[in-house]
Amino acid sequence: MEFSIKIEGPEKRRSACVVVGVYQSGKLSISAKLLDQAVKHVLSDVISRGDMQGKLGSTLLLQKLPGALAERVLLVGCGKEDEMNEKNYLSVMTAAIKHLNGTGTTDATLYLTELDVAKQSLAWKIRQATIAIQDTIYKFDHLKSKPEDHPQALRKIAYALPDRNELATAELALTEGLAIAEGMTLAKNLGNLPGNVCTPTYLANEAKKLAKTHQLAIEVLDKGAMEKLGMNTLLSVSRGSREPPKFIIARYQGGAKKENPIVLVGKGITFDSGGISLKPGAEMDEMKYDMSGAASVLGTLKAVALLKLPLNLIVVIPASENLPDGAASKPGDIVTSMSGQTVEILNTDAEGRLVLCDALTYVERFNPECVIDVATLTGACVIALGHVTSGLLANHEGLAQELLAAGQASCDRAWQLPLWDDYQEQLKSNFADMANIGGRAAGSITAACFLARFTKKYRWAHLDIAGTAWRSGKEKGSTGRPVPLLTQFLLGRANQAPKIIVKSKKK
Ligand code: BES
Ligand code: MN
Ligand code: ZN
Repeated sequence: MEFSIKIEGPEKRRSACVVVGVYQSGKLSISAKLLDQAVKHVLSDVISRGDMQGKLGSTLLLQKLPGALAERVLLVGCGKEDEMNEKNYLSVMTAAIKHLNGTGTTDATLYLTELDVAKQSLAWKIRQATIAIQDTIYKFDHLKSKPEDHPQALRKIAYALPDRNELATAELALTEGLAIAEGMTLAKNLGNLPGNVCTPTYLANEAKKLAKTHQLAIEVLDKGAMEKLGMNTLLSVSRGSREPPKFIIARYQGGAKKENPIVLVGKGITFDSGGISLKPGAEMDEMKYDMSGAASVLGTLKAVALLKLPLNLIVVIPASENLPDGAASKPGDIVTSMSGQTVEILNTDAEGRLVLCDALTYVERFNPECVIDVATLTGACVIALGHVTSGLLANHEGLAQELLAAGQASCDRAWQLPLWDDYQEQLKSNFADMANIGGRAAGSITAACFLARFTKKYRWAHLDIAGTAWRSGKEKGSTGRPVPLLTQFLLGRANQAPKIIVKSKKK
């Protein structure tokens, strides 16, 4: 899809389709009103006859209106004007795109960013609309022998502005929205690939491709290198698999050399059967998404590289399968992690924390500004928060607040859970420094408590995306979350950077 920004009134715009909003009260949006005057009040007539009632997300396509230069006009219902919030605004956008996709329209001009959305700026409206539109038209059908039969005519979308006042802002917002959407597409594609395609080696190759395109430094450690480093908890997970594990490190340098990097660590279990603590069969196929943390940090890296943000970012992915075989780790096995702490593996299905803890020890060497790990870590998180919000736990309150705000701003929310020491007791082991599970109570918190034992040397936050990274049921598929949250967080960090430089120059 090609996006652009245009400054032109709806009555003068030569386009296959002009898209304007109508409220449930029958009130026309500003552009709809302008158009209505040019077409001798056809729009008002249509509304007064009851053919378009303005219900949220309803659509009506009109053809060849005399007085308009566009071939078509699409009316989109905006619901009640005083209820126009972020969620409703995005459903207006997606309703318009869904309708247009089923028509012969090749290009459309949207006059919907003029809608007054509770407290939101034009930049927000353009950025989030772009993300929502790209999400709506996303398809993953290249593994079907014949592509599905819905030709997509729509190729170009323009956002129309009334004047040049906010043109630069709008263009920047569009660039940001497109970069985030591209990052999400990468994350979705990787997430949707089956486990027999998307193996640890495949993930490593994808990271190499990304590095080549954007001139990033990349390193992939194999099993031997991991053994030398003493990554025994990570290696304990891959023992039962015939696919070799990979440890991926990709670096983007957009800031000064001496500037400490932000580090993202993504759980890369390309299939989680549970290992010897085998999962039940129902819906086990969904465990191909257990590398969504890895996919989302690669997607974020892509967005950051596309935007050339002035900061340093390192992405680290411990990648492995979790399968049972004769060599697999057994419940009761005790392993020594890279940090030297010993772990009793009471349940081989709690493997995410085992691969992450060695990665979290490894990243100490980067002297990180902060570390954020992203993982489909616990089923308990889905029970606690459902599919709406990711779980957030952190050892630094400022970092936690920054991530919560980024989630809010990018419609990719997180919700904080406590990381109190009181929960640490649940991880006591009779035979090792800790057990890898803490019982049924507060499963997401004890999982984070386990990780917290490996992140004492830096500011750290953990995102549990078990409920948000993919959808089950009819619409089954990867969501690309939390690429928006993470990129928004990094955009925030990047925007601070020039200010800091200006300050130090003045001194
Ligand atoms: N990958 C799963 C977590 C998961 C479960 C994500 C369901 C999405 C949906 C993780 O490796 C896991 O199996 N966790 C266990 C931990 C338990 C054994 C303490 C879980 O949540 O059941
Ligand atoms: Mn598991
Ligand atoms: Zn898992």
